[in-house]
Amino acid sequence: MRLIMLGAPGAGKGTQAKRIADKYTIPHISTGDIFRANIKNETELGMKAKTYMDKGLLVPDDLVVDIVADRLNQRDCDKGFILDGFPRTIPQAKALDEALQVMDITLDYVINVDVPDEAIVKRMAGRRACSVCGATYHLKHNPPKKEDQCDVCHGTLIQRDDDKEETVLKRLTVYHEQTKPLIDYYTKKDELVTVDGTRDIDLVTEEIIRLLGD
Ligand code: AP5
Ligand code: MG
Ligand code: ZN
Repeated sequence: MRLIMLGAPGAGKGTQAKRIADKYTIPHISTGDIFRANIKNETELGMKAKTYMDKGLLVPDDLVVDIVADRLNQRDCDKGFILDGFPRTIPQAKALDEALQVMDITLDYVINVDVPDEAIVKRMAGRRACSVCGATYHLKHNPPKKEDQCDVCHGTLIQRDDDKEETVLKRLTVYHEQTKPLIDYYTKKDELVTVDGTRDIDLVTEEIIRLLGD
């Protein structure tokens, strides 16, 4: 199964991608997670990416495309993959098309998780992420068993730097300008399926699995 998870910031891409990756035993590839790991390790890439991420802007295409192409060429992607947060611009989508063509493979589905802006701004205030393993929680909709502690690795839960309301609003503007055109792009290729991301987390997962099939 070769999938892309598309959607606004906070639509639930990461939450759903993890569940879908577990269900189909495919790697979950999140460009946001790759950048955050690089920031944590203070790599050159991380330092460059951080200046954009903190402002709610996209990291330039040339810094993203090669990372994803390299990742897709690793052995564990032979059975498929789910891309979360990539592509995010038309040039990235075209670069991905070329990379897939060279690898002689095609996408199965592009899953568009649809959530209106108002719901997103409310949602983001409640998000918490594990500072160690990156697992995502929500104080109300997906609370950890113990306050401020990750269920998986017992790491401390923190609020992401870019989840301040003003940065979330900027990320939403950037989404509408640069990422939303991908809905049209993948509709024309007849690869897009859309799910209602405002429903319960479990219901969204069920709907995606129903669309993809066993
Ligand atoms: P990235 O990490 O990809 O962030 P994002 O797209 O802004 O999306 P989020 O991770 O914030 O949200 P999500 O959709 O994964 O939602 P989640 O499941 O966490 O990118 C960060 C930055 O990196 C970008 O701004 C950019 O600078 C850079 N970057 C990354 N990729 C790039 C690229 N390709 N090109 C250029 N730059 C790039 O859910 C959100 C919250 O809601 C959680 O608390 C969750 O528990 C809760 N929740 C989830 N589903 C539901 C539901 N159904 N009901 C209620 N609550 C829910
Ligand atoms: Mg995410
Ligand atoms: Zn953890």
